[in-house]
Amino acid sequence: MKAFQIADSVYALHADIDSADLFEGIWPIPHGVSLNSYVVKGERTALIDLVRDWCGAPKVLAAELASVGIDLAGIDYLILNHLEPDHTGWLAEFRKLNPKAEILATAKGIELVKSFYKETEGLRALKSGDTLDLGGGRILAFEEAPNVHWPETMVTWDAKSGTLFSCDAFGSYGKLGDRIFDDQFTEEEHAFFEKETLRYYANIVASFGVFVKRAVQKLAGLDIKVIAPSHGMVWRKDPKRIVERYLTYAGYLDGGREKEICVVWGSMYGNTKKGLDEVLRGIEAEGVPYTLHRVPNEDPSFILADAYKSEGIVIAMPTYEYRMFPPMAYVLSLLERKHVKGRTALRIGSWGWVGGAKKEYDELIVPLKWNCLESVEWAGGAGPETMKTLYESGRELARRVKSAP
Ligand code: FEO
Repeated sequence: MKAFQIADSVYALHADIDSADLFEGIWPIPHGVSLNSYVVKGERTALIDLVRDWCGAPKVLAAELASVGIDLAGIDYLILNHLEPDHTGWLAEFRKLNPKAEILATAKGIELVKSFYKETEGLRALKSGDTLDLGGGRILAFEEAPNVHWPETMVTWDAKSGTLFSCDAFGSYGKLGDRIFDDQFTEEEHAFFEKETLRYYANIVASFGVFVKRAVQKLAGLDIKVIAPSHGMVWRKDPKRIVERYLTYAGYLDGGREKEICVVWGSMYGNTKKGLDEVLRGIEAEGVPYTLHRVPNEDPSFILADAYKSEGIVIAMPTYEYRMFPPMAYVLSLLERKHVKGRTALRIGSWGWVGGAKKEYDELIVPLKWNCLESVEWAGGAGPETMKTLYESGRELARRVKSAP
């Protein structure tokens, strides 16, 4: 458990979380996640972002600090870029070990320090352009970056090393092991982390895409040499790579999405699935790639990632008790919350005794502003005419996806 040196007197600390717990209490992390903190030393010492008491993270943090000769009690400043408890949950315990450290955050962040942790002393509210002189020629600067990920967020900038401490922005799921820098991972590993970055973005940041773009514009004037987020790897070889990745994701809000189709389906006795197979044949005939997600078997976290990047979407489900197949209603509510809007969409499904899914679906997708092909519904098992319609609907969806701007 050693700290990683980013530059002279700048260190990265990280605790890998490998747990069956859900991130934010919602999202599965089968490949773990890292909680990163940073230390910057001048004549005085600043710790940037903390951890929560999760999988022994505080102990790891203390050991990594000790590896560079720093004791928790020796921290002069605790900078909290973001108050979500994955980065602050251990604050009360930290305070007991170090009653003297000044805690710095935005004004909204300071309010959260008070409301979450009941700390009232030694707090300093920051605004964009404020600086902190650590002595020895090391001055940290702060820039508010609201809503990346919550309203109180800011980033911290160390001009001397060119390091941007960006907290949730430019982060990813995935534990890191005994490496932390982008140049320590193979391209194969990068491909894995790219998937986990997209899923992290779609789960955590997607609601705030506009703010991501705004934050990147705000930071454009900085000569960034290192991007140091609070989850995932530290980018010292190619920091542009993660910035461009985030800008691509934020751009999906406005179009330019991948020419792919995210297929979300549920079936009670196989009739909807049989119809879906014809749709898939039609999509395949047009050569458009698709991903398949069955509900409720698969967690919506993974559905969000594929839906977020894909231009096309298929929703296939039966009627259940006069309404939609229930797990699909949950998926649609998440797609709405995460701004998966403007997609080219097709809905299909069977009904047994009486219909009703279509009515609820049509109401739920109003805020999504999807460009919908005509829904295909049928009673019981689909007959030859319906199967033909399903095949043609799949082809038409794929054609529209290919020609989307
Ligand atoms: Fe990593 Fe929004 O907390």
